[in-house]
Amino acid sequence: MKYYNKLIFEISTKGRKGYALEQKALPEINLPQNLLRSSKADLPEVSEFDVVRHYTNVSQKNFGVETGFYPLGSCTMKYNPKINDELATLSGFANIHPLQPVETVQGLLKIYHETQNMLSEISGLAAYSLNPFAGAHGELAGLMIIKAYHEKNNDFKRNKIIVPDSAHGTNPASATVCGFDTVEIKSNPDGTVNLEALKAVLNDETAGLMLTNPNTAGVFEKDITEISRLVHEAGGLLYYDGANLNALLGKAKPGDMGFDITHINLHKTFSTPHGGGGPGSGPVGVCARLTEFLPNPIVKEKDGFYFFEDSKDSIGALGQFYGNASVYLRAYVYLMTFGKEHMSDIGPLAVLNANYIKDSLKDLFELPIKGYCMHEFVFDGLINESTGVKTLDIAKRLLDYGFHAPTVYFPLIFSQSMMIEPTEVESKDTLDEFIKIMRVVAKEAIEQPDMVKTAPHHTIVRRLDEAKAARQPIVKFKDIK
Ligand SMILES: Cc1ncc(COP(=O)(O)O)c(C=O)c1O
Repeated sequence: MKYYNKLIFEISTKGRKGYALEQKALPEINLPQNLLRSSKADLPEVSEFDVVRHYTNVSQKNFGVETGFYPLGSCTMKYNPKINDELATLSGFANIHPLQPVETVQGLLKIYHETQNMLSEISGLAAYSLNPFAGAHGELAGLMIIKAYHEKNNDFKRNKIIVPDSAHGTNPASATVCGFDTVEIKSNPDGTVNLEALKAVLNDETAGLMLTNPNTAGVFEKDITEISRLVHEAGGLLYYDGANLNALLGKAKPGDMGFDITHINLHKTFSTPHGGGGPGSGPVGVCARLTEFLPNPIVKEKDGFYFFEDSKDSIGALGQFYGNASVYLRAYVYLMTFGKEHMSDIGPLAVLNANYIKDSLKDLFELPIKGYCMHEFVFDGLINESTGVKTLDIAKRLLDYGFHAPTVYFPLIFSQSMMIEPTEVESKDTLDEFIKIMRVVAKEAIEQPDMVKTAPHHTIVRRLDEAKAARQPIVKFKDIK
């Protein structure tokens, strides 16, 4: 094994140090007995240089949007502009303490307030709370609002949330966490909501419908106003899963389509980093009749003074303080960079890029939904099934060529789903290179199917047992006593 492929504990050498602090330079602190260690911490003993080399090498084993093309459908892996980082980490922001009096943080509160307002304008909803820490957390907030609304109307029977079978797994999961029963409805062959299936399940137990538009197959729900009418007529509320908002930016608003509640994934549409599961942000927005239920606190403004306000009917706070400040700041810079005039340039380019890839590969890959797509689309495996090469094999082989795999086996409505979302930030050269490699892999599937089925061959690790990795992850180097 190469020296720098070793784990940090493996390069530990007894007595080696990465710091030069004199013991006497440290202040004496008397800690209570119960907080004191009974034995020495078992930490790697390494020099500063060892640590720098180790982490630099580890970082190079990773794949990120800054290493290569990352067409992960539904995840909107767009470029995270460096100016966002630069401004969000200005010391005036970075050194603010969340418990500082509001008089001393007026600048930051103004930005929060403006961000709330910009999200309202973009989505056509009356008010936002920036409190939730992820898309799924925003979903939970939205569902808690749905629950609080029905309970306030003494409508305790409404315990069912409808989700289409194309929905992201977090939708039914959030509904369950919130104490609702989930009712799944079958989609049309093109992935859109089947109106007859919807009508069949709507009743006085319906709390709401969760929907993303464009849906997870990359198709715009053309019947959205009828869906909205049906759900509202049955007494339910309409929840917009904002994961696919990028396609509509500046062109159409969920509020105008009849949605009552939405979350927006700032780490998708508004270019903040996805960052290995965090820090994320999923602001939740509502129509006028639901504002009193938003999570506390909300930033308000009066006579140029910004302050936090709690609402008495609020579902409560979903996390400490106001949420993920460094994430809003990055999103704010992105919003201000484009401004109102250029916000609508984003969606059409994302749509153009997706259609370009789709059209260039449809002779080799099965296209279950014909016609134009929005910002993403789904292939259902190779047209030539005789090779036995599946979507997973293609995804793994792409890694050998330096491309991140598309989203695979989602949406669940197709058996070999491969969902591709290039976003608007990629050049035609990158798209052409990806198309070229997809064609190479399709050819390899015929000529060397076993090689493709055992890919990847050139990555740091070979094919892993993904189910085992998820269910029994080994997250530490050794047992620490
Ligand atoms: C359609 C859809 N809904 C919800 C989510 C959940 O968002 P998050 O990962 O921010 O929790 C995702 C995430 O990929 C998604 O694609």
